[in-house]
Amino acid sequence: MFEQKRKWWKEGVVYQIYPRSFQDTSGNGVGDLKGITNRLDYIKSLEVDIIWLCPVYDSPNDDNGYDIRDYKNIMDEFGTMSDFDELLAGMKSRDLRLVMDLVANHTSDEHLWFQESRKSRDNKYRNYYHWWPAEKGTPPKRWSYFDVDANAWKYDEQTDSYYLHYFSIKQPDLKWENPKVREEIYDIIRFWFDKGVDGFRMDVIPFISKDTTYPELPEKYNGNFVSYYSEGPRLHEFLNEMNQQVLSKYDIMTVGEAPGITLDKALDFVDEDREELNMFFHFDLMSLDRDGHEVFWMQKEKWKLTEFKKIHSDWDAVFAKKGWGSIFLSNHDFPRSVSRWANDSIEHWHNSATMLHTFLLTMRGTPYFYFGDEIGMTNAGFEHIEDYKDINTINRYELLKQNNISLKDFIENEKEAARDNARTPMQWDETKNAGFTNSKSWIKVNSNYRKGINVASQEKDENSVLNYYKKMVQIRKTNLGLVYGAYQLLLDDNEYVYAYTRVLNSEKYLILLSFSELETTVEINEISFKNASLLISNDQAEKTKLDKVFTLKPYQALVYELA
Ligand code: GLC
Repeated sequence: MFEQKRKWWKEGVVYQIYPRSFQDTSGNGVGDLKGITNRLDYIKSLEVDIIWLCPVYDSPNDDNGYDIRDYKNIMDEFGTMSDFDELLAGMKSRDLRLVMDLVANHTSDEHLWFQESRKSRDNKYRNYYHWWPAEKGTPPKRWSYFDVDANAWKYDEQTDSYYLHYFSIKQPDLKWENPKVREEIYDIIRFWFDKGVDGFRMDVIPFISKDTTYPELPEKYNGNFVSYYSEGPRLHEFLNEMNQQVLSKYDIMTVGEAPGITLDKALDFVDEDREELNMFFHFDLMSLDRDGHEVFWMQKEKWKLTEFKKIHSDWDAVFAKKGWGSIFLSNHDFPRSVSRWANDSIEHWHNSATMLHTFLLTMRGTPYFYFGDEIGMTNAGFEHIEDYKDINTINRYELLKQNNISLKDFIENEKEAARDNARTPMQWDETKNAGFTNSKSWIKVNSNYRKGINVASQEKDENSVLNYYKKMVQIRKTNLGLVYGAYQLLLDDNEYVYAYTRVLNSEKYLILLSFSELETTVEINEISFKNASLLISNDQAEKTKLDKVFTLKPYQALVYELA
């Protein structure tokens, strides 16, 4: 019996594409839509079901497309609407679904609405954005992610007012409190659904509702703006309305990006009865190795496996009966998973990457893979500020420079934490620029494409990270217990091995994952190993003898089917 209702978006595996870095065909050094279309057979060969495409809309690219100028047009660098239609048709003919990115907390300052809004205080678009008239004095402090001064209010001379921007000064926040704004957003969503798009990943969705009296940050938040931003007074009203007006009318999926959302709030978003979203990305794991509220600063101490397990166990428990989770280890805002969560040294890279694949594909919740992780792409670790292209790194560098804070430490931090670590081009083969472009790439290609981290060589090697990935996806898709089965953590306080079972009726699995660079022995007493069989291992494993004592090689992953 299934505890949860079966759905395609629960059983599917998602593959995220950062279009700028996937495949250039036009020769401008930037990936494009035709590039993705040309690679659809490859994507299909991964056995994934759903593609999440980061923003491809018309944008001046202050934040690589997360600043949208026109929601119903395609960015010139990426191609045209007919390229998009061709891509979608190519996906449909291969039974692949498409999830787009909805960036609706803010627009670009070059969007027509903002251009109008800033013209005069009585412009009909004035109330599309958050304005604070200067005669009221300086507005209460709001913190901004990408502002050089970390100040989310920007003074605009034209109307002697400040506008609100939680992200860069070129990303003014929309005023969802205005019903016209919400209508515009629903209209955009309908436009893409009517084309046949299968869902949306919703950018920073908990930030959309604001207290429009703009009070001082209430004390209880203790300086934590992100937490305050994610608890706006009308958030759930807006999500529910969006669901009623548009989402519920289509067979689509939604996944919210949810900074600030804690375990106790989770079901408010995804309990089916509330009719809001299907699932969301929480930030607990992404904050595990970070310094307090500072999501882009590495903490000094190494994270602990017991904490990693606790995060996943706690989140699994929340969704055990209601709602649904998403499982991910990386995306375009965080470093590469193999470098961050395991070990990308030559010696341990293969087992590390495949162990993490095993993890993502044996947990409950929809698994999201970031492009390139299937071949074990690693952090770029750029040493020079000139190599960074991300506004987040560049503006924080400026801020520190102004405040005379050590830039050397900052670069050391960015080598591990920067978003650009994950934005280097897809490594297709051993030709120039890894086969990504035949001109100059917009961002440096990671040179390890010549050392086996590329699709062409891994396709030929039976034991490659890529071929393991394909096998593992197959295993998930042919064993529904891995999708819906109950999760039970074993060896809770072991700092080297993550062990758990998944059980659905008579289907039962044991998963053992080593997060250690040393050989490790564990003993599992809770389980009977009579008639157990090995489904997969990423290293040579003892296949015949099986008892309660297991010796795992460094970063070894084992999945057993138990009778
Ligand atoms: C989200 C996106 C990130 C972007 C930000 C502002 O966090 O994932 O890439 O910079 O929102 O839109």
